[in-house]
Amino acid sequence: MSKLIFDFNNAMAEMVGGKGIAKADIDGAKERVDSAFDTLDGRDMTGWRDLPAGQGEIVEDIIATAKDIRARFDNFVVLGIGGSALGPIAVYQALSQGDVGINLVVEDNVDPERLARVFNGLDLKKAMFNVVTKAGKTSETMAQMMAAADMLKNAGLKLSDHIIATTDAANGNLVKIVKEEGLKSFVIPAGVGGRFSELCPVGLLPAAVCGFDIKQMLAGAADMDDICTRRENNPAATYAMLHVIGMEKGMNISVMLPYADSLKYMSDWYAQLWAESLGKRVTLDGKEVFAGQTPVKSLGVTDQHSQVQLYTEGPFDKIITFLRVENFKNDMDIPTAFEYVEDIAFLCGKTFGALLEAERSATEYALMKAGRANVTITLTEVDAYSVGALLYFFEMATAFAGEMLNINTYDQPGVEEGKRATFALMGKPGFEEAKAEMDARPAKDPAWIME
Ligand code: PA5
Repeated sequence: MSKLIFDFNNAMAEMVGGKGIAKADIDGAKERVDSAFDTLDGRDMTGWRDLPAGQGEIVEDIIATAKDIRARFDNFVVLGIGGSALGPIAVYQALSQGDVGINLVVEDNVDPERLARVFNGLDLKKAMFNVVTKAGKTSETMAQMMAAADMLKNAGLKLSDHIIATTDAANGNLVKIVKEEGLKSFVIPAGVGGRFSELCPVGLLPAAVCGFDIKQMLAGAADMDDICTRRENNPAATYAMLHVIGMEKGMNISVMLPYADSLKYMSDWYAQLWAESLGKRVTLDGKEVFAGQTPVKSLGVTDQHSQVQLYTEGPFDKIITFLRVENFKNDMDIPTAFEYVEDIAFLCGKTFGALLEAERSATEYALMKAGRANVTITLTEVDAYSVGALLYFFEMATAFAGEMLNINTYDQPGVEEGKRATFALMGKPGFEEAKAEMDARPAKDPAWIME
């Protein structure tokens, strides 16, 4: 069975020439870490913690629905944004090995060129749309759904045959549409916010449609829950503690560096989780702190030739997380060729997997030598079990970090102003005041506008 192994050594000061986390820092954080365990459980919006063990019948419904979709459709089109999209994309990338028997499309933007290209390229009779929104009123998702519904109607197709909704049980416009149009729907449980929703129907339906073993994903998450609730040797609490201490020592950036293409989009999913959960102006008691750590998405070995120079010699403002895969599903030999070029002969007879791991290990070493804090998470294999475990691990680490920072991990007040301004610009009733406020902003100085 696959498993996750966590190596935190290279975050320690003694490994990275005094630049990392010192024993005194850890001793100083003890009280905060202990209290994070105490406060974690009592928070609102922690329904995501019940997902691994508590979805019995829903999981069966998802599997049956997915089977039916696979039998009748060629395209499964997810319409959603943020937490409704990044998880499905990450899991698809992790678990698909080429053809999964259906074409998964995740539309998480309203770029008209892309939308037109994707929508116009669909054989609508063979397309099932999955509209995913917790709030049930997100402008981007609703606009996409309106376009999809219009196309389906124009093609003489019934919405209820081609749209499945995943949304809140009671709130939002999507619930109204579900009722009115008789759509099949799945519920995003009340205590599950967008970025913590991958292990509920939001992520499980697309995964099951792609033929992935969602019970194994949940089993991985459930076992990770056991690991991440123990008081000692808890990798999520440790990851959180090292990152929180790191933040306070000026490590303002969390680099996610997977050395596997399959894990490439885990970085995008993590970026949302870490940024939106921890980037907060005030603590729970209202003290202004401007907390957070900027997530950076990177990929080994590709970004060794792009970003690693900065990580090794630039500012000491980062903590780097390697995602390492022990056994690749397929490996490829580097054959003997060009015998006349002695300089490349050392590669002959090795595998690409060995080269990738040598480069990862070498980068880990180089960063350590340069005094750069880093941690390594190894997945013995990338499969449904380890992917479920990895997702849940990062959710727990984020939750612990939020407790240690004493902030609200589950809200996102910083994105509300932008939403309000969008509504005002798009003429939504009730936002006239916001429009007036925008119109009254200082005029732009033409001197700063250039052509
Ligand atoms: O994590 C969150 O709550 C957000 O990033 C949401 O995922 C995103 O805003 C989309 O929201 P909704 O699912 O309500 O459409």
